[in-house]
Amino acid sequence: MDKQPRVSANCEGPAFIHTAHGLCLDYSTRHGDMPFKTPEVGNPMIEFKGVCFSYDPGRPILSNINLSIFEGETIAILGHNGSGKSTLMGMIPRFYDPDHGTIFLNGEDLRNINLRSLRKKVSVVTQETVLFDDTIYNNIAYGTRGATKASIESAANKAFAHDFILNLPKGYETMAGESGNKLSGGQKQRIALARAILRDPAIIILDEFTSQSDPESEVLIHKVMKEFLKGRTSFVITHRLNTLEIASRIIVLDAGVVAAVGTHKELIENCAAYQRMFEVHGKRLSA
Ligand SMILES: Nc1ncnc2c1ncn2[C@@H]1O[C@H](COP(=O)(O)OP(=O)(O)O)[C@@H](O)[C@H]1O
Ligand SMILES: [Mg+2]
Repeated sequence: MDKQPRVSANCEGPAFIHTAHGLCLDYSTRHGDMPFKTPEVGNPMIEFKGVCFSYDPGRPILSNINLSIFEGETIAILGHNGSGKSTLMGMIPRFYDPDHGTIFLNGEDLRNINLRSLRKKVSVVTQETVLFDDTIYNNIAYGTRGATKASIESAANKAFAHDFILNLPKGYETMAGESGNKLSGGQKQRIALARAILRDPAIIILDEFTSQSDPESEVLIHKVMKEFLKGRTSFVITHRLNTLEIASRIIVLDAGVVAAVGTHKELIENCAAYQRMFEVHGKRLSA
């Protein structure tokens, strides 16, 4: 799934890793005595500078994107279908590189960073949970090398998946491929969340993750999400009001340009497009 011939792997670049000092770029392969570069206080963790992108020449999808995201923020991304939300997010794990402009991570051009280390620290969770024809254990462990059963069960527990998994015919040894159809959408989502929690990412992208949940799972999933996003830098593509409200800032994308950035409170006061959306949701909520 993460095979992307468009981008170069850059094995020689600094690795993006966790150290005692937090998230760092490890330059130890290049500089003997100055191995780590920690982000300077007050500087953004992720920065888009003049980023443009098109899939096909002459048809721009993203135009001159400028954004600064700070470590630990929960950013909600809002925009109509086709406005470029998924494309924008796909640039962080480098599924695509900008045609013009640069994306920086801790001040370093993403393209210079060891790609494997970057993707290890970025989790993308979409609405289509892919379950493999393998045990629940292995499905949750997908993407995490050397996961123990205890750590898998702990991740499942945090995702409110442990109990329903124990009720499957063979518990964690149940083949997900066979029983995949028996799992509800919400159960599959919780397995996807358990998988992401186990990976322990620094950066999380939830791309319309909750858009197909049943109301019952949605409450659970919202609870898991809130806990999971704590202490991480996250992007949530959503129209859900409860998520917009917990976001530190909201980015409104419109036809490939950033139309507005602000807190829920700021946008509700100043952004007409946002106000309209909020009214629609508000009515639905009170109905
Ligand atoms: N792989 C692709 N090849 C060509 N065009 C694409 C591809 N993926 C998305 N697009 C187009 O890019 C635009 C933005 O898509 P996307 O980023 O998926 O928007 P959103 O997530 O906001 O719905 C749309 O016009 C879409 O048709
Ligand atoms: Mg999308």
